[in-house]
Amino acid sequence: MLMDATSPPARVPRHVAIVMDGNGRWANKRFMPRGIGHKAGVDALVKVVQAAADRDIEFLTVFAFSSENWKRPEDEVSGLMSLLVVALAKHLLKLQADGVRIRVVGDLTKVSDKVRHALLDAQANTVDNTRLTLTVAFNYGGRWDIVQACQQAMLAGIEGDQLDEVTLSRFMAMSYAPDPDLFIRTGGEVRLSNFLLWQSAYTELCFTDCLWPDFDGAELDKALADFVMRERRFGDVAALDAGTAPAVSA
Ligand code: IPE
Ligand code: IPE
Ligand code: MG
Repeated sequence: MLMDATSPPARVPRHVAIVMDGNGRWANKRFMPRGIGHKAGVDALVKVVQAAADRDIEFLTVFAFSSENWKRPEDEVSGLMSLLVVALAKHLLKLQADGVRIRVVGDLTKVSDKVRHALLDAQANTVDNTRLTLTVAFNYGGRWDIVQACQQAMLAGIEGDQLDEVTLSRFMAMSYAPDPDLFIRTGGEVRLSNFLLWQSAYTELCFTDCLWPDFDGAELDKALADFVMRERRFGDVAALDAGTAPAVSA
């Protein structure tokens, strides 16, 4: 599409969701232990949070630990748990100063008290921030989310015949955010790996070979440029036929 002075400003997705994959391979390539890759992954995340805020993205959701990642060797799992606690302690003040609100989604009943408190304290301490909502998906799985939403709906006394998509959405872990507009997965794998299954029904998917520790503002810009070229239809006819601008999610 040709752009001129009358072109509308480029659309910025309100909500970007990222599967931060490739830390292990990044470290392997350097003959270093996988834990070093995870550490470098935290550094990349800190920069990408800043880049997202600078680009007026409202919601950034990152997959930090999946329901299935417990299958990894015990030392890698415990290393990831400690890294999370250390990273939050190290970066919380800066995130706070940058107006980042931290939210956590996932099954925290299965993590240690130390990790749970670190996550919930970060959430509580940043609750009033409004610039960017950073959701950390930790011990999260899309299937877990759907099941816990059903359980909560039942506990709230909602009968089966009253349960519809809008009602169930209210019980999903990310009910405070619009569905992701753009999904990015680094590391070259082309799969969702049980990330936001319910919420990604109409999300634009973007996959890159870039390993997560190498991802930065410039890589984010590539994904944003790709997103701008997508025509979102949400099941409608092509915008050109309908004579309307592509719909933007709520
Ligand atoms: C993603 O990187 C981080 C987590 C899953 C916690 P990986 O650890 O999966 O890195 P690769 O895919 O083995 O390179
Ligand atoms: C997805 O990456 C989970 C996170 C990035 C936290 P994985 O590396 O666990 O995914 P698979 O196993 O390759 O599908
Ligand atoms: Mg991986």
